[in-house]
Amino acid sequence: MNKPIIAIDGPAGAGKSTVARMAADKLGYLYIDTGAMYRAVAYKALQAGTPLSDPAKIAHIARKLDIHFEMIENEQHIFADGEDITLAIRTADATRLSSPVSAIAGVRKRLVDLQRKMAENGGVVMEGRDIGTVVFPDAEVKIFLTASVTARAQRRADQLKEMGMKSDIEQIAADIRERDLRDSSRKHAPLKQAPGASLVETDNMTVEQVVDGIIAIHNKMVAA
Ligand code: DC
Repeated sequence: MNKPIIAIDGPAGAGKSTVARMAADKLGYLYIDTGAMYRAVAYKALQAGTPLSDPAKIAHIARKLDIHFEMIENEQHIFADGEDITLAIRTADATRLSSPVSAIAGVRKRLVDLQRKMAENGGVVMEGRDIGTVVFPDAEVKIFLTASVTARAQRRADQLKEMGMKSDIEQIAADIRERDLRDSSRKHAPLKQAPGASLVETDNMTVEQVVDGIIAIHNKMVAA
């Protein structure tokens, strides 16, 4: 039997990346950040100067794009057509564009195909918005990770402070609300809790508690 697939979905800023990475580390599983893949397409569209008004061209960029992940000094890096774009996909422009880009059906089709291929041998923790609903509806472990807008905005502001950057918490909260609305109201694969997913509300939980909870669900499933 293949090792399980752990699907973690939830809105931006709920802490998915941190807990998914830690759970993958503890289990010796592969960690796949699917948001980074949508960001990669947004980055390539920006680089090519392709406007959002031309979704067919953006879908074409996605189809042609070679994406792979590589561990470098214990950090996961993402490469697009051989270029390390790990940092470039985190700019404000790439972040802003990634949401409308991820609403394009042709982009989703290509990235979902790639995600299924990457996880074909199991033993994967994959996080995103549609992993438990669309990419792997039969994943052995499904988690819907969330937190209030206030908690998510505060975490983001703390991160920026740590990086020595100033931030406006009201603006961050407004951006989060806007992204939530767009991600959960879009036509293709909107963000929602998958049937059978465990709901984890992280407002009053430490990262360790969340990771331990996910591993407990995984271990129970494996033992069953
Ligand atoms: O998780 P993130 O902020 O890096 O994701 C970037 C964008 O991609 C975000 O607007 C939601 C979208 N996304 C998606 O539609 N489906 C996924 N599986 C992952 C991310």
